[in-house]
Amino acid sequence: MTTTTADPAIERFLDETRDRRLDSYKELLRIPSISALPQHAADCQATADWIAAELERIGIENVSVEETTGHPVVYGDWLHAEGAPTAIVYCHYDVQPVDPLELWDSPPFEPVVVEGKMLARGAADDKGQLHLQLRATEAILAARGKLPVNLRFIFEGDEESSAAPLEGWLATHRERLAADVAVISDTGFFEGNLPAITISLRGMMYAQIDVIGTDVDLHSGGYGGVVDNPANALARIIAALKGPDGRILIPGFYDDVVALTDEERALLDALPFDEEAHRAKIGVPALAGESGFSVLERKGARPTLDVNGIWGGFQGAGTKTIIPAHAHAKLSCRLVTAQDPDRVFEALRAFVEDIAPPSVEVSVTRLGGGRPVLTPVDHPATRAAARALEATFGKAPVYIREGGSIPVCASFEENLGLPVVLLGFSPPGDRAHAPNEWMDLQNYETGIRTIVRMWDELAALDRAELDAAS
Ligand code: BES
Ligand code: MN
Ligand code: MN
Repeated sequence: MTTTTADPAIERFLDETRDRRLDSYKELLRIPSISALPQHAADCQATADWIAAELERIGIENVSVEETTGHPVVYGDWLHAEGAPTAIVYCHYDVQPVDPLELWDSPPFEPVVVEGKMLARGAADDKGQLHLQLRATEAILAARGKLPVNLRFIFEGDEESSAAPLEGWLATHRERLAADVAVISDTGFFEGNLPAITISLRGMMYAQIDVIGTDVDLHSGGYGGVVDNPANALARIIAALKGPDGRILIPGFYDDVVALTDEERALLDALPFDEEAHRAKIGVPALAGESGFSVLERKGARPTLDVNGIWGGFQGAGTKTIIPAHAHAKLSCRLVTAQDPDRVFEALRAFVEDIAPPSVEVSVTRLGGGRPVLTPVDHPATRAAARALEATFGKAPVYIREGGSIPVCASFEENLGLPVVLLGFSPPGDRAHAPNEWMDLQNYETGIRTIVRMWDELAALDRAELDAAS
């Protein structure tokens, strides 16, 4: 028995309940809570109900499953640590769609443990992390009868598809959510499975471009050379958005980008990272991206523009000689501090309208987004998380900039005025959003101990120091 939580009673509880815990983890993974697909709405509701029942069972109070404009939010709190700090714990219970199904080694919602890995959709992103948060709280309450800090749990079911429902819910319930810090477990460790604290996440601007020529497809013999082709026009528009050096060509796009300082660049450079090994692991013939920046800079500190999908015209077997009536593309930009998704969308729309040929109709529609965030590295709560990671994983964490996005993170900072600590445990290469998603069970198990330790570390903080930092 290791005593990384510094509490033998908790270690004993965790040792004795290991099998039960894995069964419960699998139970959660079996509910196909895909937020993007309407046919899974009842599964999202069932997942919310499952979590609420668990919260109640382990001793959390004021548990409720609350309606939003999307899937329900699960709330619960425990507020009896008088004078101690209050943390909001955030995770999401929704998952990404599972297609293409045939590439999974085992069905996505029938979790299996293979060689120390839990294999299922959501195993890492983010049900595994939500589950480990529940297990940490359960262990403390079972062993001690009380928590060292006050906790408010907010588990949402729309993170993978829309930021709006939780934003709305937070705006309505602000008064009820007084806290000192938000702890989000929805990020991962660094290459080599090194314990990490994420200190920045990129934002997002999502849009669709529709190019319309005619009502119906035209014979390409009768009309080719006479009318414009919407698919060709779309290709020209997309090609104009980014240069061969990876630089985005939308006027004003980089206006609000804050460049890394020399010191910040040096910190990224100092991380143990091998670009060639990374390339080989991904399995591409060459890496690509904006010239003049390292891979870690391009991923964590530079914005992007990517086509996510493009369609139109004939897609079947064989040939069909037409000029397609219309063509479409979905595209997204990852944003960095201090880019604003609204401004970036306007810049994109203005540029596309400017370069659109008069021979077709072109429209640009906004599909969503979120702001980038930088979390405080030297906040006492971040330092508490670092101590908790070091005590449990045996290694001080590295501080990393992640390329992904968690839209609510900016809301916690801007609307609730809270410092955010991104304390997540998923292993690098976890295949989140892809077939064969997996969670490292050692990370999961030790992560439970880290959270236990985190709350003890947070409780031990000097109140005055914490208040001064916020
Ligand atoms: N957990 C991820 C965010 C993430 C990805 C953090 C990689 C750290 C590293 C989250 O569930 C996610 O996938 N977010 C979406 C948000 C989008 C739909 C606005 C993303 O990043 O694509
Ligand atoms: Mn996630
Ligand atoms: Mn995700």
